[in-house]
Amino acid sequence: MKLFPWTRPLVSRFRPPGDKSITHRAVLFSTLAEGAVEIYHPLDSLDIAASLRLVQSVGVELIQHQPDAWVLRSPGFDKLHEADDVINCDNSGTTIRLASGILAGLPGLSVLTGDNSLRRRPMARVIDPLARLGVDIAGRDAGLAPLVIKGGVHRGGVIALPVASAQVKSAVLLAGMTASQSVTVQEKTPTRDHTERFLHAMGANISVAAGQITVEPGRLHPIAVTVPGDPSSAAFWATLAALLPGSSLVIEQVSVNPGRVGFYQVLQKMGAHVEFRLQRPDPDPMGEIVVAPGQLTGVSIGPKLVPSLIDELPLIGLLGALAHGKTEVRGAEELRFKESDRIHTTVVNLQTLGVEIRELPDGFEVWGQNFLRGGVVDAYGDHRIGMMLAIAAAVSQEPLELLGGDAIAISYPKFFSDYQRLASV
Ligand code: S3P
Repeated sequence: MKLFPWTRPLVSRFRPPGDKSITHRAVLFSTLAEGAVEIYHPLDSLDIAASLRLVQSVGVELIQHQPDAWVLRSPGFDKLHEADDVINCDNSGTTIRLASGILAGLPGLSVLTGDNSLRRRPMARVIDPLARLGVDIAGRDAGLAPLVIKGGVHRGGVIALPVASAQVKSAVLLAGMTASQSVTVQEKTPTRDHTERFLHAMGANISVAAGQITVEPGRLHPIAVTVPGDPSSAAFWATLAALLPGSSLVIEQVSVNPGRVGFYQVLQKMGAHVEFRLQRPDPDPMGEIVVAPGQLTGVSIGPKLVPSLIDELPLIGLLGALAHGKTEVRGAEELRFKESDRIHTTVVNLQTLGVEIRELPDGFEVWGQNFLRGGVVDAYGDHRIGMMLAIAAAVSQEPLELLGGDAIAISYPKFFSDYQRLASV
């Protein structure tokens, strides 16, 4: 696919597609609630389709599936049944990891698999803590999907998270809902807290203190939720608005959850104009983010900040390439275990565009310049790399040929129609 530099600024009010993390949770948590879960402004993407298929395979019904309103009806966790076939989570890490925690309590056999990328991603991080709660779970080669879970009764306990991962934290907390006693998760670095917020909103007995979350076993009650826009999807347009002179972007009804806005805080620190306006605090903060260009200077990002902008780090590479001075990302080795090795795929693609960027074991360092040249770049099957490169094309000096752009449908199927629409306003 050939992509051309934009000739106009980005001036728009824009409501991004529903948040991926929150839509996954609304869909997956319906299993634990008897009755109808209403989901407004859900993200409709390939990753979410995997979660929808999964809950349907164990007995949840999708009774309404309109573009902006879904209703899922669960008979209640205790009336669900084992799936009658292997469950394919495709490319979705959130589906396989969160579902592992849920299926830990479902009597019967669950086999979870995924595509080539998912079957290479680390699963020991969920297998080990769940096994410590007494869950009968195993993976191929000790730590890869397919995963086999013989669900049923398991015990409570205290689990110190092996990695800073909201997916792993969520898997353990969800297993806590069907344990015989409470489950406590200890996390050293805070990660996105959508699971805690939704468990609370759905009636779970959950307590959250600094670095420690405890959930009592129980069942949930259904809720109606309006999914905030996805700040990770909106970050592509925010990058463009920060880089294209004369731009002005208002991102409407977007998640402003503190665990998700690290990218926007960094953008502000780099010198872009960024404003946050909180509109709805519960169940998960939603508001407006305004972005306009500024003189950008390089920044240094360390491990504490990484979880709050983990999915946006490829964009930090692009921003660093066009900022004044050096930008450095450290403590981000988790990026190597995403849909692609995002340290490597960010670095090689930006190098193709003439950027001086160096791969580090746990991140990268990039020296800013004032142009990007064209070239042939590759998403490597990774939606976020594909979108970062499409934004690079928009701010480049020359056209760019993007290979593998179809991966973008994983999280943002309407990306290119938004791209064309926003380019012509
Ligand atoms: C997610 C958490 C993050 C993120 C992923 C979605 C979630 O992964 O990269 O896109 O919904 O909990 P980790 O928590 O494994 O870092």
